[in-house]
Amino acid sequence: TSDNGKRKSLHGHWSSRMAFILAVTGSAVGLGNIWKFPYIAGQNGGGAFVLVYLLCVFLIGMPVMMSEILIGRRGRRNPVATMALLGKEEGSSSHWKWVGSLGVLAGVLILSYYSVIGGWTLAYVFKSVSGTFTGASATAVGAEFSSFTSSWWKLALCHTFFMGLTVFVVARGVERGLEKAVRFMVPALLLLMFTLLGYSINSGHFGSGVAFMFSADFDALTWDSVLAAMGQAFFTLSVGMGAIMAYGAYLPEETSITGASAAVVIADTGIAILAGLVIFPLVFANGLDPADGPGLVFVTLPLAFGHMTGGTFFATLFFVLLTFAAWTSALGLVEPAVAWCVEHFKRSRAEAAVIVGSVIWVLGFATVFSFNAISGVTFFRGTLFDNIDYLTSNVMLPLSGLLITIFAAWVMCRNSTSEELGGAGTGYRVWRFLARFVAPVAILFVFLKAIGVLPE
Ligand code: PHE
Ligand code: NA
Repeated sequence: TSDNGKRKSLHGHWSSRMAFILAVTGSAVGLGNIWKFPYIAGQNGGGAFVLVYLLCVFLIGMPVMMSEILIGRRGRRNPVATMALLGKEEGSSSHWKWVGSLGVLAGVLILSYYSVIGGWTLAYVFKSVSGTFTGASATAVGAEFSSFTSSWWKLALCHTFFMGLTVFVVARGVERGLEKAVRFMVPALLLLMFTLLGYSINSGHFGSGVAFMFSADFDALTWDSVLAAMGQAFFTLSVGMGAIMAYGAYLPEETSITGASAAVVIADTGIAILAGLVIFPLVFANGLDPADGPGLVFVTLPLAFGHMTGGTFFATLFFVLLTFAAWTSALGLVEPAVAWCVEHFKRSRAEAAVIVGSVIWVLGFATVFSFNAISGVTFFRGTLFDNIDYLTSNVMLPLSGLLITIFAAWVMCRNSTSEELGGAGTGYRVWRFLARFVAPVAILFVFLKAIGVLPE
């Protein structure tokens, strides 16, 4: 038995169940939904990719999320210390700390490029407010984007601002910082997405957008795309790296983990699908290419806003909200490293935030230059940015997610997990089945197929 009931997190606790759901939703809903999902779906041919993505979200992502929260709440420390502690407590070994470390590292690497894209959204707030897109043509909006990204110092400046915002909130701590930031962002973002959906429906190409997203041609789907879909499922739910584990550590004892996870998964998936339904009709209405890559939202949406009444206002509001969404996700990305730094080096929260933030800021220059100075230097998956993205989303998150579920479902004893998940009812049995068999086998299989270890 453990002393879990008495264990407290030294970083404080969420003030309520709602605060936790908001924080996890804030971490989940971000650039992954609105910037990344549409362009990855576009690059992987739409339909079949989207269906595989949905399967991965519900059959793999959700059980991994539940595993992470329950481990986090039981350990109540940073992911590294929690894995070490529970590893011993559950009769295995403290070497499980390496799984926590893998997550901390993944978060740092992801944030290094996430912050650069967060900087783009910040820049687009100012571009919108000054009416840059009013009445602009597709070519003009596209040119605006490429001239912006080809300037390394502009990207560096925006990246610096975005990292500053992130460090500022994280330094303020769990209750005062993280909670406040997420309270109004998600509802407001949803409202605006629905407004855009109305515009998209009237674009005359709504049907082609829907068809692109949902008519599945499985013959055209490669294992590489399946891996991309799985990686995106991990990325969008913020799982497989200890972010949700770190947040789980601050979760009050009585909150239902299953209920909270379901709410977050549904909100996140809904917003990603909504983003696709807004963006693809606009792509087809303007003769753009769905496989255009990272610039997709930064071209389609300004174009739509530029032709809308009140467009300047809506565009500004939209990019403000997207910045908020990115910001609350960045908090989740940096939290494991900061919590680890606080506990490991006995630093204050503010000091830890500045140290970790500086390291990430420096790493971010790899992405900054990937869009200009070294955009021609490509290897393996493309530019340096493409490779960091591939390594984190498609390798580190699935690998760490695999190990986390194995730990929760095979290493931890039944009593511990059922205690955390509120008894041994149907929900518990479904989780255990998915976490023991479905998720690990699927992750391994897709991964081995994609890297070509298993024959066709
Ligand atoms: N889920 C976030 C998004 O979709 C990104 C993220 C990943 C945040 C991992 C925290 C941890 O944008
Ligand atoms: Na997301």
